[in-house]
Amino acid sequence: MNVSIIGTGYVGLTTGACLAFLGHKVTCVDADENKVKALQAGEIPFYEPYLADLVSGASNNLKFTLDYAAAIPQSQVVFIAVGTPPGANGAPDLRYLEAAARGIGEHLSNEFTVVVNKSTVPIGSGNWVGALVRDAYEKRSGGKSNGAFAVASNPEFLREGSAIFDSLYPDRIVVGCAEARTAEVLYSLYRPLVDQDFQAPAFLARPEGLGAVPLIATDLASAELVKYAANAFLALKISYINEIGALAGKVGADIGQVAKGIGLDARIGTRFLQAGIGWGGSCFGKDTSALVATAAEYGLDAQIVKAARDVNQRQRERVVEKLLGELKILKGRTIGLLGLAFKPNTDDLREAPAIDIAKKLIERGARVKAHDPVAAERFKKENPSIEVTVCPTPEGVFRDSDAVVLVTEWPEYRELDWDGLRPTMRSAIVLDGRNLLDRAAMEKAGYRFLALAS
Ligand code: UGA
Repeated sequence: MNVSIIGTGYVGLTTGACLAFLGHKVTCVDADENKVKALQAGEIPFYEPYLADLVSGASNNLKFTLDYAAAIPQSQVVFIAVGTPPGANGAPDLRYLEAAARGIGEHLSNEFTVVVNKSTVPIGSGNWVGALVRDAYEKRSGGKSNGAFAVASNPEFLREGSAIFDSLYPDRIVVGCAEARTAEVLYSLYRPLVDQDFQAPAFLARPEGLGAVPLIATDLASAELVKYAANAFLALKISYINEIGALAGKVGADIGQVAKGIGLDARIGTRFLQAGIGWGGSCFGKDTSALVATAAEYGLDAQIVKAARDVNQRQRERVVEKLLGELKILKGRTIGLLGLAFKPNTDDLREAPAIDIAKKLIERGARVKAHDPVAAERFKKENPSIEVTVCPTPEGVFRDSDAVVLVTEWPEYRELDWDGLRPTMRSAIVLDGRNLLDRAAMEKAGYRFLALAS
């Protein structure tokens, strides 16, 4: 099929590359000239494992352009995958979505086209996008748009850092639309994913035992709510284990064992029960905030979601409190941070706990040094006003520090020469914010070892 994707961020570029890999003819449209030029030259504008391999492997089926006219008229399916960054009052900023909908309407052909919303949008946006596309189409063509297009919602469940895996081997595909005809177009598009009959790429094997992937067809509002409800549930699962973690610390329980013990109940599940500093990133914060705002618009108080947000914010404060409890005075101290990205395997720094923690420490007069294997340069570029000394190696973070905090669980941090690093510190205090390290081994190596759940 011929497919266009508007927006070449994580979701748009990953979707485009995966659909091209599955054999569709994909044209990606973006308004950013530099980004389009870079993509045309084979450069990926952000770090995502395997994305470069997929883009280069599927290059015969993949084009990049600034021009809607070069993409939309010949497409049977047009995805909107533009950013919906947080705006005022917790509601997302929809200006890019609006521009994309108008651009699509101005360039639609008379052939039936499915316009698919993949951006995370407030409930009801599908109808709004439909109205914008219709207005723009009718203004341009002077005629009625009946039958020219239909709008669908197809929420994305990929995680940064495992975006390709999640896209090729999803748990489910959700498609929301009003008519069976629209769902059928999307079923045809996704058939290789549903049947899992494509040849897996050499670098990313299909998980053993993965059978057919369920495709759930719903109405528009349900698909839109699925996205928010899924992200909010994952977010509150994390906050829940962090709340239990704080109690585990008080009663002398091991939160890792507690998480395992409850997670093996199939009704609960083991995933997203990793206790620590809590969630960051562009999704959970924004989506829980939008869900609370939407509920309020309908006179509802989303109390559980609000509580999950509060617990998450509290985890960041607990890092500072733990250090304060240990060092008594933070003014003039040097604190090292291991990890800047909001999680491993990405260079994304949006709502990264490390940034918040660094700011809180600096406010209290501490000096902050930090390392990240991938996100360091991006941090410097995006945060020139935060006075953090970025170290090219993890060793630099330890040198003359009063304490080191493990903020992002990059696996290489587990493998550091912990014995050798201890004497380079002013005081050998380590706060493991992600439960990555082994307490007994750290204590044996001579560290005063702190964890959030202790
Ligand atoms: C999240 C969802 O997992 C995806 O399904 C969804 O598509 C995406 O948002 C989105 O809406 O676009 P993402 O934010 O990329 O994906 O990353 P996650 O792997 O979900 O991690 C989010 C945060 O939670 C990270 O800061 C991570 O460190 C933290 N986390 C995760 C925990 O603290 N504990 C856990 O057990 C799991």
